[in-house]
Amino acid sequence: MQDRQAVKETVRARTDIVALIGRYVGLRQQGGNFVGLCPFHEEKTPSFTVSPDKGVFHCFGCKAGGDVFAFVMRAEKLQFPQALEFLAELAGVELARAGVPAPDLQLRQLNEQVAQHFERALSSAPGQHAAGYLKDRGIKGRTAKDFRLGYAPPGWQHLINTFRRQSAGLKALGLTITSAQGRSYDRFRDRLIFPLLDVQGQVAGFAGRTMSQDDQGPKYLNTPTTPLFQKGTLLYGIHRAAEAVGQSDTLVLVEGYTDVITAHQYGMRNVVASMGTALTKVQANLCARYAKRIVLAFDQDTAGQKATLRGVQALLEAGLDVRMIQLPAGTDPDAFIRERGVAEFEGIVAQAQPFFEVYVPLLGSQHDLSRASGKQAVLNEALPFFQGVHNLYWRDHLVQKLAYTLNLPYEEIERMVRVRSSSRAKPLEQSERRWHLGLEEQLLYFLIQGHVSVERATAELAKDDFSRYGELWESIVGCYQQHGTIQLETLREHVDPAWQTTLNRLCVSELPTGNVTQDVEVVILKLKIERLERGIRSLEADIRQAEADENGKRAKQLQMKLLEIKQRQAELRNKHSSKQ
Ligand code: CTP
Ligand code: MN
Repeated sequence: MQDRQAVKETVRARTDIVALIGRYVGLRQQGGNFVGLCPFHEEKTPSFTVSPDKGVFHCFGCKAGGDVFAFVMRAEKLQFPQALEFLAELAGVELARAGVPAPDLQLRQLNEQVAQHFERALSSAPGQHAAGYLKDRGIKGRTAKDFRLGYAPPGWQHLINTFRRQSAGLKALGLTITSAQGRSYDRFRDRLIFPLLDVQGQVAGFAGRTMSQDDQGPKYLNTPTTPLFQKGTLLYGIHRAAEAVGQSDTLVLVEGYTDVITAHQYGMRNVVASMGTALTKVQANLCARYAKRIVLAFDQDTAGQKATLRGVQALLEAGLDVRMIQLPAGTDPDAFIRERGVAEFEGIVAQAQPFFEVYVPLLGSQHDLSRASGKQAVLNEALPFFQGVHNLYWRDHLVQKLAYTLNLPYEEIERMVRVRSSSRAKPLEQSERRWHLGLEEQLLYFLIQGHVSVERATAELAKDDFSRYGELWESIVGCYQQHGTIQLETLREHVDPAWQTTLNRLCVSELPTGNVTQDVEVVILKLKIERLERGIRSLEADIRQAEADENGKRAKQLQMKLLEIKQRQAELRNKHSSKQ
């Protein structure tokens, strides 16, 4: 049993409150404190203060305050146990959970034995061509040992015959596959083996690179999900890089195993690989545990690069200073280091520019920006990144960068960003063009397109739920009550000329939706939440007035009402997040 209080204190001690809150709020140092705009109420001048010494935050405006746990509970809308989990993950503190068995020791031992077996096979006779391959690629014996490279001999039953009494274990570790006919065979056959080691250097899984030109399988084959291995939770090379990050506080993130190995071989040890998939939150947090700065050094213009970039938000979200370098097209760090030397590579890494500084122009260079469609394509790719950028400073910087690159007005981009981030958490493909329409417009759009009936909509919403389009809503509903239809022709006749342009826009809009019924529900919910939000604002103003009038009784009554509305809003928010 872990002592809960002790765990809490460990997590607290390992959490940098300024870094944590800095992920949500742009903070600026002021004496021993940091100040910024309060994330919990609207304000134009900073009254939100963080004290790193005391480990607390406080807003002089709305009086919100507390420690790191209180902050996460509020910002992420979590209960304490979830907030503890959230911070524990960031801090790299393992929480023991009841009912979760300790990692299977036997499986670990077997994985280790298999790794040793593969290592030995690399220097055995059948492994000679794999060893030769490594030599040709310039990987020295010493390096191969450091990374515990190995060789899986050919034949369908090699491991099965070697570890006879452990077939169940082999299967659990994904080292063997059972055919439909019930026959087991080895997963890795005639492949160069890269053991995938976790932070402690324990064998979690394996990757095997094909050694034969005519191999039917993929170039790299990985261990599938097992009790010890899960894709997207490891960084290749982390156990060696972790200790090397040291003073520079920098981790270099590359795509491939060989990129890591070559860099290490030439003395550059703060290099890890994402292993060809989109970066995950777990990997990002792993980076954040060891480094403050991440330098992305991906292969140029490859599918792999695109995939990996999809996870960059996770790095930003983890509060890392994300930078990026561009190598010449057609090369990767492995090839670059061998051709030009590690010093030149390190030089480029040292000069790495902030991520967006490189990324936005890079996107720009991939499209024809003299055409609207080219600008659109860049926006479609770039805007999703905003979802992960909570830091206001960075957000603003990116807006400027995009505006400059696309030669579009700053305000226009800003607006798209705002609409987009309010509709976040939707799959991108589905909300690709949603940011053209505001929330109220979306509802009217669904109505006009027949995705929601007038009956259903009026059962849920009223004019007050709209701040801008109340009139249009009213006349659409009126049209239905009068004519029994809101077909376009009838609607046009019925609606005030002042609204015709809007009507036209809604008619020609396209909101690709995956699940229309669900999207309608979400929009309805959001409208209700926004209406309550307006109610809250005006109540708050009334309360201030009552307090100024020294009408304590009225102020109290209004306070009660405010609480009630906030409660209702919280309920709706919960409902909303359960729908996402
Ligand atoms: N990868 C993978 N499965 C594939 C191809 C690639 O898992 N079928 C991952 C591997 O982690 C690989 C990385 O993506 O290291 C980058 O791929 P690539 O550039 O093709 O491989 P390199 O590491 O450069 O390998 P090599 O130099 O041996 O060609
Ligand atoms: Mn590569």
